[in-house]
Order: sequence, then structure tokens, then C-alpha cells
Amino acid sequence: MIRKNVLKITKGDYSICPNNKIKKFGRNKILTYLLTPRQDEMKNTFLQLLSKKEEEEFRVVELGCGPGWLSKSILETFPKAEVVALDGSKQMLEHAREKMEHFKSRVTFDLFRLEELDWIDPLDQQVDCFVSSLVIHHLDDEEKKEFFQRLYDALLPGGALIIADVMKANSKSLANYWADEWEKIVQEQSMELFGDLRGLDVFIKEKWNMYHFPDDPADKPSLLSDQLRWLEQAGFKGVDVSWLKAGHAIFGGYKE
Ligand SMILES: C[S@@+](CC[C@H](N)C(=O)[O-])C[C@H]1O[C@@H](n2cnc3c(N)ncnc32)[C@H](O)[C@@H]1O
Repeated sequence: MIRKNVLKITKGDYSICPNNKIKKFGRNKILTYLLTPRQDEMKNTFLQLLSKKEEEEFRVVELGCGPGWLSKSILETFPKAEVVALDGSKQMLEHAREKMEHFKSRVTFDLFRLEELDWIDPLDQQVDCFVSSLVIHHLDDEEKKEFFQRLYDALLPGGALIIADVMKANSKSLANYWADEWEKIVQEQSMELFGDLRGLDVFIKEKWNMYHFPDDPADKPSLLSDQLRWLEQAGFKGVDVSWLKAGHAIFGGYKE
């Protein structure tokens, strides 16, 4: 695994979290839950799209696990699943490790860099499912195309690639619609979590809404239609989108 160029987290004002909530959920869970439009719906969609039976044994690799909500929900739902959780940030991997202490016999953690594809080689024909949430938009169009091909090649027959990510809007008016929808959901989630709008304030102050602030060079979202085509070109079958909210889509395909 690549151990250089470890990422530093530059955003995320945790001071907004009241102590009792931090105790109950953990700081990162509060932040990712707050900023992601309807993370619970996303989680349920992922769990369905894995297309696995509860007692099945299978191996999942999560690309960019962050604080680990997705890996953890897979371990909770499928008692024989094994997870490899990868992220570019040591800090995030530590949070994820803490969160999954209970499952430590079935989960391993490692650093990786999305752009440096050599971490895929040791996984070749060892993986039933690749999953990823809100990370692949750091690759540009050409990189995504190659990435999908490499993941397809590495998957076992019957395997799946399921991605949640932010999409490029096809027009300015759609970008505005997604921006407003995202802000409205964060407003609702701030009220749910804190009983006030402090979460919305952080969302605005830290410029999380890329449909309002599209200038961060780290964000390279692609059109959903292009990504579905690149998956098909890589060889995936059953390629489709299953969920979309505020520009965040869940889509993927299967290897026969
Ligand atoms: C927006 S967070 C998403 C985290 C989590 N998957 C979720 O859905 O909440 C992006 C994650 O990707 C990681 N990341 C960003 N760029 C990366 C890169 N180039 N290589 C590896 N990890 C990266 C960050 O450390 C962070 O944990």
C-alpha cells in the first residue's frame, strides 16, 4: 500500500457538536451525517445493491472509507462479510478503526492513494465487491475511465462495484436546483441533530456545497451518463443508477 502523501483533513468544524451528541455518535459520524443528503437512505441502497444473502461469505473493499459508516453497516448486516477499509488519511482511518473495534476480526485498514493504482494489484481476483462513497470525484474523466476498468479486472466473477458520488450537473439550472436541494436537506438535518441551524452555518461557512462553490480543484465530478457508459465499456453488466438526491447518485454494475 502507498504510505506517502498522507492526506490532511482541512475542513470540518467539530466545535459545533454538543458533547452529548459526540458521546453518542462520534464527531465524524455527526459531520458526515449532517453534510451528506440522507445518509440513511444511501446506506440502505448500498446494502440492497450488494445483492448478498445475510449469511453469505464475501469480501468487500471500501475505497475512501472516511470515518467508516458504510464499512460498519456492511459488517453489521452481513455477519460473515470481511471488509478492507482504505483511505488516504491516517486520521480518518483511526476514526474508522475506533468505530469498528467490535468487528476487528473481520476488518482491516490501510492507507491508499486513489490516483496511484498500484494498490489494486494485490487485490486482484480477491474482491467480491468494491464500494465507495463520495471519493471518486477526486479523479478526472480519464482517470475514472481507467479506474473503472482496473476495478472490473480485479473483481471476482459475480462481483459488484457500487459507487455513491457527487455528479457534474448538465446545466447551470440543474446545478442550482441541486445546490438548493442540498442546502435544504442540510438545514433539516441540522435541526434533527442539533435542534438549531449551527450545522447549516458550518455547511455554508466551509463552502461544502460544490454546486454553489464549484471552484475547488480537488473536485472533478463527471456526468452520471458518462460514468454509466464508462462502466459498460469496462465490461460491467446491469449498469444503472438506483438513487439520486441533491446531485449525489448511487450507481454501479456487476461482473458476470
Ligand atoms: C468526503 S469524504 C467521504 C468519506 C466517506 N466515504 C463518507 O461517505 O462519508 C472523502 C474521503 O476520501 C478520502 N480521500 C480524498 N481524496 C483521496 C485520495 N486522493 N486518495 C485516498 N483517499 C482520499 C478522504 O480522506 C476522506 O476520508
